[in-house]
Amino acid sequence: MKFEEFLVDSIEGTNAAARWLAERLKPGDLVGLSGDLGAGKTTFTRALVAALGSSASVSSPTFTLMHDYEGVIHMDAYRLGSGAEWEAAGLAEYLDGRSIILIEWPECIADALPEHHWRVTLIETGPESRAIRISPPFMGGGGLS
Ligand SMILES: Nc1ncnc2c1ncn2[C@@H]1O[C@H](COP(=O)(O)OP(=O)(O)O)[C@@H](O)[C@H]1O
Ligand SMILES: [Mg+2]
Repeated sequence: MKFEEFLVDSIEGTNAAARWLAERLKPGDLVGLSGDLGAGKTTFTRALVAALGSSASVSSPTFTLMHDYEGVIHMDAYRLGSGAEWEAAGLAEYLDGRSIILIEWPECIADALPEHHWRVTLIETGPESRAIRISPPFMGGGGLS
């Protein structure tokens, strides 16, 4: 599998894409969520956390940097800026091989990101439609080309 692409026209479609990924994630996996503001990174995370079996209610970690939903860690790297700050925040400790880690704005900490990670890229194509591309880890993280 090079990547999987979902062209969805509703939140329900986004939920289905998240379920597809949830079925494939293993403990310790890291998922980078890329896309502009409003593309649906947090919405996709909410669906993924639910699909992984948690009843936690997901909100954006933009200001808190990190939320822990019963073994699923949700982070926003937007304000971290660099891998050094990522280390300083102690967030690297969550890469413990047990938790599933979801990171919005992974490009902000590109220098600290393990090469082996899933990448979800969301593109807004209409008010409720999105192109959602999911690339598996062996692509070296992202691999849009
Ligand atoms: N198919 C869809 N998938 C994801 N979000 C959608 C979809 N249709 C509409 N939306 C809306 O788009 C917005 C996405 O916001 P959010 O998930 O916070 O984006 P991000 O985290 O990328 O900034 C939400 O208001 C959500 O309800
Ligand atoms: Mg967000």
